[in-house]
Amino acid sequence: MANYISQLLIPISIEYDGGMDIHKLISHRRSVRSWADRPVDRGTITRILETARFAPSAKNKQEWHVVVVRDAAARRRLGEECARQSFVGEAPAVLVVCGDTSMGVMRCGQPRMPVDVAIFIDHITLVAAAEGLGTCWIGSFDAEIAGEIVGVPEGWVVAQLLPLGYPASDDVDAAKPKQRKSLEEIVSWETWKNPGLG
Ligand SMILES: Cc1cc2nc3c(=O)[nH]c(=O)nc-3n(C[C@H](O)[C@H](O)[C@H](O)COP(=O)(O)O)c2cc1C
Repeated sequence: MANYISQLLIPISIEYDGGMDIHKLISHRRSVRSWADRPVDRGTITRILETARFAPSAKNKQEWHVVVVRDAAARRRLGEECARQSFVGEAPAVLVVCGDTSMGVMRCGQPRMPVDVAIFIDHITLVAAAEGLGTCWIGSFDAEIAGEIVGVPEGWVVAQLLPLGYPASDDVDAAKPKQRKSLEEIVSWETWKNPGLG
């Protein structure tokens, strides 16, 4: 796998060679908040991050950094900063995803860092799902204290937490249908007022 990935670093055309159908992967990924009593080994986490780092970013700056927390005491402390979300610290690993605060604003007016980091995190969640692992974006936490726990340096901020683990077999969320807006609600063609055209 490592050799395959490093080949992608040279400018070649990349052809998708099949594997799990991307449509199915995306539509089946869900947030997981209940974990099997099964560790996630370092090799699996590395493989996920190795692939996710191919995420696109503005000017290809890739100004993200992940601290992988597997230590039980540190996970518990992180979990305590996520009000009433004890499942965070119960996951076998918590990814503390950080962004560079010096990243500027794009010409369109949007800040680069939150956009780039969100894409990176989404890549992680999808690759993790392909590996049979569950994740849950966590935005409800104290970023300052989380940063202190993992030693985030000056100029960086904790953007999101991402607990990672194998889903519990009795996870009640697994049976819940996906709640999503209809395509008509979120898509227009040519102008905002033309939902049905296309
Ligand atoms: C930016 C962001 C922040 C989120 N923060 C939390 C959170 O603090 N706690 C939580 O349980 N879920 C959190 N979620 C997960 C959403 O609730 C979840 O993605 C959404 O309900 C859709 O469900 P699904 O992921 O199962 O498709 C967050 C998701 C995103 C994208």
